[in-house]
Amino acid sequence: MMHERRPLLAANWKQNLLWHDIESYCEDLRAGLPDYFVEDSEPAIDLLICPPLCYLGLVGALLEDSHVYSGSQLVSMEGGGAFTGEVSAQMVADLGCDYTIIGHSERRNLFGETEEQIGRRIQQAFDHDLVPILCVGEDLETRRAGREQSFVLRQLDAQLQYLGDIDAGELVVAYEPIWAIGTGENASAEDAQQMARLIREWVGSKVSSKVSESVQVLYGGSVKAGNIVEYFSQPDVDGALIGGASLSSESMIAMLQACLAQLRI
Ligand code: 13P
Repeated sequence: MMHERRPLLAANWKQNLLWHDIESYCEDLRAGLPDYFVEDSEPAIDLLICPPLCYLGLVGALLEDSHVYSGSQLVSMEGGGAFTGEVSAQMVADLGCDYTIIGHSERRNLFGETEEQIGRRIQQAFDHDLVPILCVGEDLETRRAGREQSFVLRQLDAQLQYLGDIDAGELVVAYEPIWAIGTGENASAEDAQQMARLIREWVGSKVSSKVSESVQVLYGGSVKAGNIVEYFSQPDVDGALIGGASLSSESMIAMLQACLAQLRI
């Protein structure tokens, strides 16, 4: 099966793993994924690790000279200055990162992040050449009421003013239904495909057809080695944003290998 866009598997470690865990994780990746650590190879799937902010430098150093990207789980809404505790997009970019996760449902729901704050973070990401991974997705009540599509479209519409001028290759959108995050309960592959299609069509009608063809749409929510291919084989799903199952290098390698095997069919 051929993917029109470059597939991406993104690990969101959330608030997990310590220094020594990360050292052995990266060592295992090097041993298990030798192609990703050879300069002149070009792996068919992009791999991205998003550790906690304080370990971005460590991950960057351990994965140096590899084709594994690193990204943050957060960037500040502010460019810089007297904002105690905050880490700017410029600092994240300065550490060699290429991506940042924005608008994750845990940020929205546990930390009260508003659409305006999400938009300001997206703006900061663009200002410093980080690709935002914009997370959208409905809660269980909304899904049960059959209103998931209008819910996600509203989330996208709220960000239009920040996304209106973007170019191809500058955006990733992750569809993460909240009821499937960390619960072991998955969206069906058809649900993921339907929403990925809707997101792509939204980008096509509101941003541009060029960006619609290039935007990578990921599915996230209880993805693991045993089910990743179901999502990955959908035409509009370009990869996954993985939480729990990304915390072990072994399972990360297994997911990547399952997707690589699917690409060769
Ligand atoms: P789980 O894979 O643990 O369900 O988490 C998904 C997620 O929130 C990734 O951002």
